[in-house]
Amino acid sequence: MQREQWNSRTGFILAAVGSAIGLGNIWRFPYMAYENGGGAFFIPYLFAMLSAGIPFMIMEFSLGHKYRGAAPKVFAKLGQSIGLRLEWLGWFQVFIAAVIAVYYVAIIGWAMSYLVFSVTQSWGADTNEFFFKSYLQLGDNSPTKLGDFQFHIALPMTLAWAITSLAVYSGVKAGIERASKIMMPLLFIMVLLLIGRIIMLPGALEGLDYLFRPDFSKILDAKVWSAAYGQIFFTLSVGFAIMIAYSSYLPEKSDINNNAFMTVLINCGFSILGGIMIFAVLGYMAAEQSKPITEVVTSGVGLAFVTIPAAINLLPIPYILGPLFFLALVVAGLSSHISIIEAVVSAVIDKVNISRKKAALLVCGLGYVTSLAFSTNGGLLLLDLVDYFINNVALLTSCLIELLIMGWLFKLANVREYVNHCSEFNVGQWLVICLRFISPVMLAGILFKNLINTIQ
Ligand code: PHE
Ligand code: NA
Repeated sequence: MQREQWNSRTGFILAAVGSAIGLGNIWRFPYMAYENGGGAFFIPYLFAMLSAGIPFMIMEFSLGHKYRGAAPKVFAKLGQSIGLRLEWLGWFQVFIAAVIAVYYVAIIGWAMSYLVFSVTQSWGADTNEFFFKSYLQLGDNSPTKLGDFQFHIALPMTLAWAITSLAVYSGVKAGIERASKIMMPLLFIMVLLLIGRIIMLPGALEGLDYLFRPDFSKILDAKVWSAAYGQIFFTLSVGFAIMIAYSSYLPEKSDINNNAFMTVLINCGFSILGGIMIFAVLGYMAAEQSKPITEVVTSGVGLAFVTIPAAINLLPIPYILGPLFFLALVVAGLSSHISIIEAVVSAVIDKVNISRKKAALLVCGLGYVTSLAFSTNGGLLLLDLVDYFINNVALLTSCLIELLIMGWLFKLANVREYVNHCSEFNVGQWLVICLRFISPVMLAGILFKNLINTIQ
């Protein structure tokens, strides 16, 4: 059977960008930059993007394109060419993808609920109390209550699964590509509209000043460099089967170098927009409440579901800006969720030779049932735990193994030759140097540091 293909180059890039741009760009990047030297963070960040992000993306695109399969098949074939059994690496990555899919959808579900709440700001004045106690039903729960099932959380999650499964079920062109072509332009427009309005508010520019003011003393801090590399691997969705699956649907004649540059640059550019949006809001909020901005900065779920709602309470036209923000969050999340499910579904199709429709229903059905664990009172605790382990250990381990195999057991010069053969512009020897030396050293360092932190 002929492998499915993207309809157009733009379609592929939008899908890859849709995967890369996610919650990480909105709630992780701004905080990372702020905490790690503000404007000065852009130096290690750009360095990480050039030395690890782009080379890694080129490498994964070439793997999918060359071996025409999802991660397990790709690594199996690659292994064959060097006399090793490597299919397990592909399955390890698919496993990581599946785990992320199951908890990521919970957050999309919360954002959907908040999209509804934001129309009238029904979260009230105490957004902290509302989120943790009223919405998630946490609080002075006895352990026996942690398993209590919450319908109001399961319901939006069901909707998120329905959208994802519809996209993946409908196929590469009719489902994923079409969804990306609607979602990505919409996301950019919404974020630009939000920034356009918020930036004019009092205090917004001071917020940006906090984000961008360079603290060059941090440049010498190893922590800052590890944060930059960690953020790059996370934000680009490399190392967990996604980009391999997506690039396996590229037509024979595709400009891999160009596609990889575009995907990385658009994602990182969007991160800067995310930073501007978040810090303009925080600056305004700090000014309104006459607090220093350091008291209002947060990241992660606390930013999206506690601080931003509190800021929305203070905004002009909150019933428009609020829903815009949460719709942007939902769209960013869904397009990533689609990609992560596709990574799993395409691996299943390769392996057991069933139709896409059956595989999609099977994977989404199992994923859905598992994810219901996150609509219990213990959902947030479980989510924090899984998220910590995945981001700080599993993902980095997977990236590191992939790099070591590619850099030290495989001839990377072949990758370079392969991508240059089908691209308008050539990449130089730096590709090999980055993938062989710089990236693995940085990754090993971060992983080591994280493991030490975990033990402590
Ligand atoms: N790159 C995504 C982000 O920045 C991470 C991600 C991708 C998470 C795909 C889940 C699925 O948020
Ligand atoms: Na991202």
